Formats: sequence, C-alpha cells, structure tokens
Amino acid sequence: MNIAIVGLGKMGKIISEIAKKRGHEIVTIDPASKDADFPSIDQKSVAGCHAAIDFTHPSVAIKNAETLADLGMPTVMGTTGWYEKEQEVKSYIEQKDSAFIYASNFSLGMNLFFTILKQISPLIDRFDAYDVAGIEYHHNKKADSPSGTAKTIAEILKNNIDRKKTITYDMVDRVIGKDELHFASLRCGSIPGMHKVILDSEADTIELTHIARNREGFALGAVLAAEWVADKKGFFTVDQMMQSILTQDRQL
Ligand SMILES: NC(=O)c1ccc[n+]([C@@H]2O[C@H](COP(=O)([O-])OP(=O)(O)OC[C@H]3O[C@@H](n4cnc5c(N)ncnc54)[C@H](O)[C@@H]3O)[C@@H](O)[C@H]2O)c1
Repeated sequence: MNIAIVGLGKMGKIISEIAKKRGHEIVTIDPASKDADFPSIDQKSVAGCHAAIDFTHPSVAIKNAETLADLGMPTVMGTTGWYEKEQEVKSYIEQKDSAFIYASNFSLGMNLFFTILKQISPLIDRFDAYDVAGIEYHHNKKADSPSGTAKTIAEILKNNIDRKKTITYDMVDRVIGKDELHFASLRCGSIPGMHKVILDSEADTIELTHIARNREGFALGAVLAAEWVADKKGFFTVDQMMQSILTQDRQL
C-alpha cells in the first residue's frame, strides 16, 4: 500500500519505520519537519495513497480529518483530544462517504488485552469465589492518574462482572465494599506502562498483565488499522476492527 503519514513527530517517525518494514511505500506530511516530503495535506501530497495515518496535535486533528475525507482518503486518527466533537466528525465522514478509524490507544498488544478481557470476564462473572481488582504502574512523569487505559480496563470488568457495581480509583482508607472494583495507580521511575488485572480466591491468585516496552506497539496497531480501513467506508473504532478480525479467517 501507499500510506501518507501526517505528523512526523515521535509517533510519525516510528510509524514510518514500521510501515516500511511491512512493505508499504510512504509519504510524510508535516509543516514543521525538514525531513517531511510535504508541508500540508492536499491533492498533490496524498496522490496515489490508499490511506493516511494522523498523529499530530488536538488543535489540527479535526481539520486534518475533514481535509482527508474531502480527498477521499481512508484515515487512521491516532491524535487524541478531539473526542467531544466525535459526532461532528462522524457526520462529516459519512456525508463524504469516506472511511475513518480512531482509538485513544492503538497499541496492538493493549487491544488484544482488552479483547481477551472482554472474552473472559463473562466467565469470571460465573465464579464469585474470585474477587477482582486492577493496578497500573507508570513512570513518575505521567500527568494523569489513573491512566486512560486503566479506566477502559475497569469499565470492561465492571460491565461484564455483575458483582462489581462501582469502580474505586482512590486510596481506600476503610474496608472496601464487595461490590467495589478497586483499580490502583502507582508512579515510579521510568516504567513505560504496566496494567494488571488480579483475580483472587481463598485458594489462589490469577494475574493477567500487559507490559508496554516502547512505542512500537502503538505504531504497529496504527499501520494494521490503515491496512484494515483502506477498503472500507464508514466511521469505526479500533474495537470494531478487533471484533471484525476475530470473526475473519485472516492473518495480520
Ligand atoms: N492513539 C494512540 O495510540 C496514541 C499513541 C501515542 C500518541 N498519541 C497521540 O498522537 C499525537 C502525536 O503524538 P506525538 O508524540 O507523535 O507528538 P509530537 O509532538 O512528537 O509530533 C506531532 C507532530 O505533528 C506535527 N503537526 C502539527 N500540526 C500538523 C499538521 N497540521 N499537519 C501535519 N503535521 C502536523 C508537528 O509538527 C509534530 O512534528 C498526540 O495527540 C498523542 O496524544 C496517540
């Protein structure tokens, strides 16, 4: 495929490398990078491309999404921070009969982790011998707590395990309720990110852990999403991509 990489920052550079390794031809678009092939998205810069991947800035994400839809370019939107305008963007994409996929976390491993949790949590729901909790670890520069990913994991567990009715992220300086799902956060050193789900009974403990090593997982997920969305029309989340891959007999 020919892929336009929009934004040649930290993520755009890794995505370019991963896309090339997977045999794609790329063009890069960034007004502020001397290494980019083009400064802006237009007919010339995306000519011959089958999809575009945007990892830029929240302030330009919607404009870029609209310009790419005007040019009929299936788009992977990795940029975060525009979600309050989700309905507006969805209408624009549908009106232009274009294709668009977005995720706040494109990491392939993390999306596999979410999918695995969705599959097994109805089973956990059947066995109330096991209490359920979570913990996430990140480096000491992380601004938010809990991580957005921890919130997604906690919601998956709460939505599928009937005995957990609420999520508690804060420290509990009391006995925790049986119907509370505790999800704790720890900040230390340089940890890129670790999310753990704990199932605990009187007899044993089961731990399911995702450990991020670097940013390559995000980049691979974004390139796979470009391959997936290139022949589609519509507005998709990465969840829909994972569900569709689950039902296809296709190797990615
Ligand atoms: N969805 C995910 O899985 C995921 C993962 C990592 C980062 N992100 C998000 O991706 C975005 C970029 O992250 P980053 O770490 O690469 O940032 P970065 O600051 O390193 O790079 C952003 C690049 O976009 C360029 N840019 C700005 N406006 C542009 C425009 N109109 N057209 C083309 N290029 C433009 C900038 O010059 C810069 O080089 C952020 O919103 C970040 O939160 C998402």
